[in-house]
Order: sequence, then C-alpha cells, then structure tokens
Amino acid sequence: MGTATGTTADAERNGPPEGGGPGGPAGGAGRSAPPDPPERPAPSTPPGPSGAARTSGAADANSAPGPAEASGSSGDPGISEAPGPSPLRLLLSRVRPHQGVLLRAGLLSLAGSGAGLAMPLTAKYAVDAFAADRSPAGPLVALTALVLVGACLSAYGRYLMSRTGEGVVLRARDQLVSRIMRLKVPAVDRLTPGDLQSRVTSDTTLLRTVLSSGLVESFNSVLMLLGTIGFMAYMDLTLLGVTLVVIVGIGAVTSLLMPRIQRAQLRAQESVGAMGAALDRVLQAFRTVKASGAEERETAAVAAAARHAHDRGVTVAKWASVTDVTMMMSIQLAFLAVLGVGGARVASGSLEISALIAFLLYLFYLMGPIGGLVEGWTGLQSGLAAVRRIDEVESLPGEPAPPPAPVREAVRDPGPARPLGVAFQDVVFGYGDERAPAHQGVTFDVPAGGMVALVGPSGAGKSTVFSLLERFYDHDGGTISVADRNIRDWPLAELRGALAYVEQDAPVLAGTLRENLLFAAPEADEEALASAVARTRLDALVARLPEGLDTAVGHRGVTLSGGERQRIAIARALLRRPRLLLLDEVTSQLDAVNEQALRDVILELAEQTTVLVIAHRLSTVRHADRIVVLEEGRVRRAGTHEELLTEDDLYRELATTQLAADAR
Ligand SMILES: Nc1ncnc2c1ncn2[C@@H]1O[C@H](COP(=O)(O)OP(=O)(O)OP(=O)(O)O)[C@@H](O)[C@H]1O
Ligand SMILES: [Mg+2]
Repeated sequence: MGTATGTTADAERNGPPEGGGPGGPAGGAGRSAPPDPPERPAPSTPPGPSGAARTSGAADANSAPGPAEASGSSGDPGISEAPGPSPLRLLLSRVRPHQGVLLRAGLLSLAGSGAGLAMPLTAKYAVDAFAADRSPAGPLVALTALVLVGACLSAYGRYLMSRTGEGVVLRARDQLVSRIMRLKVPAVDRLTPGDLQSRVTSDTTLLRTVLSSGLVESFNSVLMLLGTIGFMAYMDLTLLGVTLVVIVGIGAVTSLLMPRIQRAQLRAQESVGAMGAALDRVLQAFRTVKASGAEERETAAVAAAARHAHDRGVTVAKWASVTDVTMMMSIQLAFLAVLGVGGARVASGSLEISALIAFLLYLFYLMGPIGGLVEGWTGLQSGLAAVRRIDEVESLPGEPAPPPAPVREAVRDPGPARPLGVAFQDVVFGYGDERAPAHQGVTFDVPAGGMVALVGPSGAGKSTVFSLLERFYDHDGGTISVADRNIRDWPLAELRGALAYVEQDAPVLAGTLRENLLFAAPEADEEALASAVARTRLDALVARLPEGLDTAVGHRGVTLSGGERQRIAIARALLRRPRLLLLDEVTSQLDAVNEQALRDVILELAEQTTVLVIAHRLSTVRHADRIVVLEEGRVRRAGTHEELLTEDDLYRELATTQLAADAR
C-alpha cells in the first residue's frame, strides 16, 4: 500500500529531466534546512501507584535516538527550504498505509491502560468490603486479573506499534536510498555527505518515534485523560473541579515553558551538528591535517564546538527540569487541595473515605496521560521536522528511473561493440555558479574508432566534456551528439551503458580488489578479469596481496598507491567493453614503464573502439589520431601533433615544456 504512495511521488518527481545549469530549477544552494527539533526525554513521572500508563512512553523514549544520534542532521545540508506540502500531510501519507494496524495497536494499549484505569475503582470496592466486614476476595481477584490482562494487552499493543514503526522506517530508508542513488549530480554537488547520511539514518528513526510516542501516545493520552476525568467525575464532582483548576494551571505554565525548551533544544542540536561537521572536516583530510601540523588547532576547533554543544545542552536540561518540577509540584498541589477539600467533605459525611482514596489514586493516574501528551507533542515536532528533511531529499531533481531489468540486460550486452562517434557543436555550459561558463561554445568531432586527445591548460574545460557526455550535467546550449544522435534523445541507461569513464582521480571503492574491478561489469567472467588484470599490469600487485583479488583495499582504496588505483580504474573500464572510452589523466601517476605499457593497451583498444583521452603527458597525446586544444572553454585548434606543433602556439608551448619534462 505504502509503496504505491511512494512510487507515485517518485514518478512525479522523476518526470522530465530538469536543467541543472545556471537557470535550472535545482537551485537552492547553501541554505541550511532547520535541524530536527530534538528528542526530549520523557518527563519523569512523580511517584504514584499508577506506573502502567507511563511504561509505554518510557519504552518509546528508549527507542528514540538520543541527541547525539540525531546530531549530524544539523550540518550544512545545502538543501533549499522551498515550501512544500505541509509536513503533517507528508507524515500522514506515510502513516496512512498502516492506519489499520496502528488503530488496532492503539486500541490494545488503550485497553491495557483502561484496565489500569479500573484499578482505583476496584480498590475502592475492596476498601468498602473491608469496612463492611465482607470478604475482599472478589475485588482483589478482579484486581489481579485486571493487572495481568492489562499488562498482556499493553505489551501486545506496544509490540504491534513498534513493529509498524520499524516497517515505516524501513520503507522510508528504502525510498530514500533509491532516491539518493538517482539524484542528479548537480543536486549532490550541493549537499554535504554527512547531512545526507543523517537524513537516511537518524531522521528516519525519528519517524518511528513520531508514530509511537507522537501519534499513538497522544491519541491514547487524550482518551486516557478523558477516561480518568470521567471516573473522577463519577467519584466526586467537587474534587474534580479542584483538580481541573490545577490541570489548567499545569497547562498554562507548561505552554509558557514549551517554546523556550523547543528553542533551546533546537540550538543544542545545531551545535551538536556543528561539532560533527568540525570533526568530519578533520577526518576527510586526516593526512593533510597531520602533515600541516594542524592537530592542535583542529582539536581546539572541535573542542570549542563540543563546549558550545555542552552549554546549550545544559540550557535544555535547565528548562526541562523546570517543567518537570512544575508538573510534579502541580500534582502535589492538587493532592493537597483534594486532600483538604476531600477530607473536609469526608468529615462532614458528604463523601465516603473509599471514594477519596480512589479519587487520589486517579489523581496520580492523571500524570500518565499528561506526561504522554507532553511527550507526544515533542515527539510529533521532531517527527515533523524529520519528515520535512526526508521529503527535501526526495523532492530534489532526480534522473529518470532505470528501465526494467530485461531492457537493461539488452543494453548491457550490445553484441559486437561498434565504436561511437561524438560531435560537440557550439556547446555552452556553466556549473550554475557565478564563474564564467566552463564551456563557451565548444565545437569538435570525434570519429567512430580511433583515439582523440583533449589537451589544454588546467581549468580549460576538458573534464567537463566527459561530464557532459555522461550526462552528469545538462548542457545549456549547442548540441552534443553521440553516434549522430542528440545526446538528449538517448535513453540515459543506454547512453551510459555504451560508455566507460575513468575519472581524473581514479576512485576506488571500499571492498575487495575483485569487487572494484567488476564494479562496472559485474557479469564479466574470470577469463576477462584475468586479461584485464594482465593488460593493466596489475598481476604483480595481485600476486603480492595476501588474498589476491579478494583482498580488501580499504576506504577509498587507501591501502593502494596512486598508480595502482589508476590501473584498477582502467581495468574496470576495460571490463565494461565500452563503445566509447573516456580516459581522464589516467596515466598521470604511473611510472614510465607502466605508462608505456598502458599507452600500448590504449592504442590497441583504439583499434576496436573510440577512445577519447585527456592527458597532460605528451607521450600519450602524440599518438592520437587527432588532438583538440581547449582553452578557457573554447576549442583553440584541432589537428595532429605535427600540425599543431607548427600551427598552434599554445600547443607548441605545452608540447615543448611537457616533452622536456618527460625527457627528464
Ligand atoms: N562541479 C563543479 N562545480 C563548479 N565548477 C566546476 C565544477 N567542476 C569544474 N568546475 C569549473 O569548471 C572549469 C572547467 O573545469 P574542468 O574540470 O573541465 O577543467 P579541466 O580542463 O579538466 O582542468 P584540469 O586539467 O585541471 O583537470 C574550471 O574553472 C572549474 O573550476
Ligand atoms: Mg580535469
């Protein structure tokens, strides 16, 4: 049921691809979404005979994430606060598929608490029996049965509730993860990974809290409150009047304090988030921090953030204890008032002593639902914020959903791979910031088959050519064609399926060497794998590793050298059997012997497929059939090495300095 809701929403959002360029609607850079209003610990229950109603609240509070867990959510998310549908509606749409089971769970817990509610009345009958010298066995047996049945019903209700909560969390996580995988690259450029991560982990957890403590607890508390008041009215209307005056008092004081607590909690969460961000910064560049001798400075920065979080946490504690004390005092006050007024009425004979005892028991019982309401209110607030944060990610621009598996298979194996030609015609593209466009009318042709090299100074827009070919970004003007077909008309999966791209910084993922090699072509057989390993001269490395291909390479491949990572990335691309191979500075970190070997592999490949290579090393470039010289987002000139040497000053300059460098 719930999937249906999610799928519809996905379909709407996926819709037509949106522009990620300067005018694209993906906007909203840099603004922080509000962090979660954090969890507030359940208000402590004053000592009283009726713990039953509080137990469910306590269990929920335990299952909720603590401030630390929800912390990262307040980093710099970079997601715009565009007004979307109301969070309450979003929350209800997530809950709706489970409304049946939730209602059942709510009714069960209610029945459990209701059994507790009958206890003071039964106690009254027991006291009456004692007073009248009758046997109290009947009421006492009934009391015991009530306790047992009530406990079982409550427990089952809570189990159902938690199970449903887990189901909601699972569904939200599934949807969010598949959404994140399909986000457009420009949208992800603007996000902080830590923030995104916290949306998937802690924000989704808050959904469970909002379900149990927010919705169900509030629903139960309201009914329990009404029920208790009903029983109290049955006992004595005057005493009820006294009690209601006190309850209204509690309500007034608490509602005055609540906004303060909320604000304080919000700030506390923000500062915990800031601490997380400070730590993240250090861990992301751990070696640079050490090499720069910046440990103490960075430690001080993180410690300052931690102190800030501490100070704000203390403020929260201050306000929270004021509320707790207020609530406790109010109930004690009510107790004294009821005792005074009730005692006088007992003395005057207008009230039975057993009724006064039962009334006082109900008075303490009242704390459960009141606490539940306060808790439900705060739980609901944090849940609403979480839902909003989750929805923010889900409403970011996404790529079209992948075709069904059979189509994908067909795309993966296109039979004998025909090389693809590429044509850029007056392509204009900017990354959407204030800087000059990265491409300002780029025009060049790459014939099908053979090797074409892109050269030019740093920042000329070479890597951007590859990003546009992979359609990580949509170009703003001009035409890009692959195999004489406008790139916008290619189904995305088919286009990417035909390409292999080795990025400039040769990313290697955590996992084993084998997983990394097969990453782009999981179906490749052992023979193909062995051949790719041999061609990229990785066999010596594999032989050296303790578990060969099955050795883990560490987070981002930290256990490998730069050149090894580059060769793994190339082998990965070879295994994909692409029709167009995009190589970005793939030999920059290789020694001369390895570079020579890989150059031969690339030339060999160029006989079967189209190779578009970006290189600073002239030794790679000079063998290209054609060289395109880019400068400041434009093509300066194109031709062979010999032609460009005589015709283009920039190329000559690049060539002479680079060749000289290579010769060293
Ligand atoms: N994700 C991005 N967001 C914003 N600007 C970007 C992004 N990627 C690149 N740029 C900018 O676009 C311009 C072209 O970048 P590109 O990566 O294409 O250069 P390049 O020719 O590959 O340079 P290099 O030889 O140093 O790799 C640069 O000015 C760069 O700062
Ligand atoms: Mg580059």
